[in-house]
Amino acid sequence: MLSLLLLISVPILLAWLLIRLRQHSGDISHNVLFVSAHPDDELMFFGPTLLQEMRARIRPTDQHSKVHLLCLSQGDFYGDGHKRIQELTDACHYLRDYCANFSSKQNDNQIFSLKVVQDEHLPDSPGIRWSPELVRQYILDYIAAHRISKMITFDQSGVSGHSNHVSIYHSLNESIYSSVKEVWYLETVPLWRKYLSWGDLLFTGIQSLWSANWQVHLASPRDYFYLVQSLRKHKSQMLWFRYLYALSSRYMVINSLARHK
Ligand SMILES: *[C@@H]1O[C@H](CO)[C@@H](O)[C@H](O)[C@H]1NC(C)=O
Ligand SMILES: *[C@@H]1O[C@H](CO)[C@@H](O)[C@H](O)[C@H]1NC(C)=O
Repeated sequence: MLSLLLLISVPILLAWLLIRLRQHSGDISHNVLFVSAHPDDELMFFGPTLLQEMRARIRPTDQHSKVHLLCLSQGDFYGDGHKRIQELTDACHYLRDYCANFSSKQNDNQIFSLKVVQDEHLPDSPGIRWSPELVRQYILDYIAAHRISKMITFDQSGVSGHSNHVSIYHSLNESIYSSVKEVWYLETVPLWRKYLSWGDLLFTGIQSLWSANWQVHLASPRDYFYLVQSLRKHKSQMLWFRYLYALSSRYMVINSLARHK
């Protein structure tokens, strides 16, 4: 029993050390924009990254940069879109409060802004590709209005392959790449790694050995607890399989991001 435990824990510990070397804790010189498709994407997929970017801005500095979230639909697939904007606001504010409560010094500046797009041409549906021009226009307008210099969004596989997620990736073109300094994609891992939770530290650690222009955001056990509490603010969405997801998904605890070249 003990040897089995060692057999599992030693490689994970080593991988964790490797990942620590590549770990990123938010770059406050940028106004950072997360672009998601539905309320709850920000916690189901981008949680560890969102948390680090918020936490980095809680402490007072000369830099007044913010974390922004642009959510491109209100998530109306099951007809409960009207509740979901408030749930999204509650969830993000809860996460921000968690960061603030565990920090000794707090910033008086607003560190977080949220916009939810309500456009009938961007319906929440796993089978519908959104118009790249329309998505791009919303992103470009937001970037210009809020002086965004770093953007984080889905990669070409969109974590789950959801058409709406993938549409965001396909809307990006030179006009976006040239209007911000950095674009980062949340890396989609193969399905066999998706539900390993912390166990995926091992494979993320191995991957870190050859990945360039790449960074990792890790949640601590306490962070993870509060990420789940934040996710639970999406009350209308918390069916049993969401709890299963929160328990097992690697994206709840580990995010790896690749930089657009
Ligand atoms: C943060 O602290 C406030 C005031 O003490 C409390 O009401 C709130 O529940 C805390 N939030 C979190 C997420 O810990
Ligand atoms: C990139 O997007 C801009 C703004 O929507 C558009 O005018 C331009 O034609 C696009 N470029 C390409 C190569 O699609």
